Amino acid sequence: MSTFAAEDRLASTDTDRDGLRERYRAVRRYTEKLAAPLSPEDQTVQSMPDVSPTKWHRAHVTWFFETFVLAGAEPDFKAHEETYWFLFNSYYEGVGPRYSRPMRGVISRPGAHDVGVYRDVVDDRMVSLIDRLDDGSLTKLADTIELGFHHEQQHQELLLMDIKHVLSLNPLRPVYAGEPALTEPMAAPGDAGWVDFEGGLVEIGHDGDGFHFDNELPAHQQFLLPYRLADRLVTNGEWMQFMADGGYQRHEFWLSDGWAKIQEEGWSAPYYWTEEDGLWLEHTLHGTRPVDPALPVCHVSHYEADAYASWAGKRLPSEAEWEHAARQQEGTQVSGNVADNQTWHPQPAGAPTGKLRQLFGDCWEWTGTSYLPYPGFHPAEGAVGEYNGKFMSSQMVLRGGCALTPPGHARVSYRNFFPPGARWPMTGVRLADGGAPAA
Ligand SMILES: [Fe+2]
Repeated sequence: MSTFAAEDRLASTDTDRDGLRERYRAVRRYTEKLAAPLSPEDQTVQSMPDVSPTKWHRAHVTWFFETFVLAGAEPDFKAHEETYWFLFNSYYEGVGPRYSRPMRGVISRPGAHDVGVYRDVVDDRMVSLIDRLDDGSLTKLADTIELGFHHEQQHQELLLMDIKHVLSLNPLRPVYAGEPALTEPMAAPGDAGWVDFEGGLVEIGHDGDGFHFDNELPAHQQFLLPYRLADRLVTNGEWMQFMADGGYQRHEFWLSDGWAKIQEEGWSAPYYWTEEDGLWLEHTLHGTRPVDPALPVCHVSHYEADAYASWAGKRLPSEAEWEHAARQQEGTQVSGNVADNQTWHPQPAGAPTGKLRQLFGDCWEWTGTSYLPYPGFHPAEGAVGEYNGKFMSSQMVLRGGCALTPPGHARVSYRNFFPPGARWPMTGVRLADGGAPAA
């Protein structure tokens, strides 16, 4: 298994020449380390339309730098391979046509090795560009290069989410990397406590220095009634109680779309759970193992999260409640079980602290808030304006990060989003109570 050194982390926020060069190298190296345990065959599989092959992720993030940085900045720009622009454009209409997303798994060529060559060539050109541009030109490009870092980090998490799904369908039950995890149950965290917040007129959204996506702007005020949040995530043990009480069979807990979905898909447990001889097993990146009641439940959809909350007589937090609570408790500090821990899985909450535990890392937390523009939102100029804004329909906001989130990528104002039926992201549940129902 690869080891991740401190220099691989995107901890610095320097945007001067040296900072950009070192951060570029760090983020690119991190992607390759994540892919290193995977064979060329592993890297080619697309196990469902939402999943992209590992080598496609490696190539697409490279295409991003080639398209949005090199093409506009190199005087005699020539694409590494013209055809790659068609193969590795994801969804940018402003850049041109692209290959069918659900068919990415049939692209056997270029192979994983060719993608490595593509990465090396673009890396040399990017570092050369950063070194030779005059200060003014580099300053103008710095925001786009920085967007490329954070874009690649998003794909680092997707790479892990996606290969988890790929490996889950292999009857040999392969392990992503390392030894299979121990199967002894972990220490149960005890009953969840509650942390109270006064609410009132609060401010959310990105309001300081440092990188942010356009969807985190503008910072603005929202009014919150007094509310409380559970001090930890819902556990597998609690989810088993929901299942034992007919949670997946009793319509009264479910949103109409969710009830229709579980009939259609036959859902009766979280995504990666299977029952064998009366024992629930869970597929993880460390292999298949018995479901541990002490661990947070993960890979549940928004529909399931909402139904669980209804069963428990509670609700999901709104995104404004989540962000306000996180700011009250942590300011803008972020720490938790994210990818550099290399657990690749949520961990137990530990002993109560009187504060919210597991805010960052472990599992993305479903909110009850639809993914919509903040008041006064404007997408970024140009083709990169397609990055976030055009997806503001039929999706729900998630907050916090997960065990697959690259270090330095999570922040208090970060708005993740997925359709309410998505289960392959590492998603979990924190309950809320009091105040007003989520908007
Ligand atoms: Fe992308």
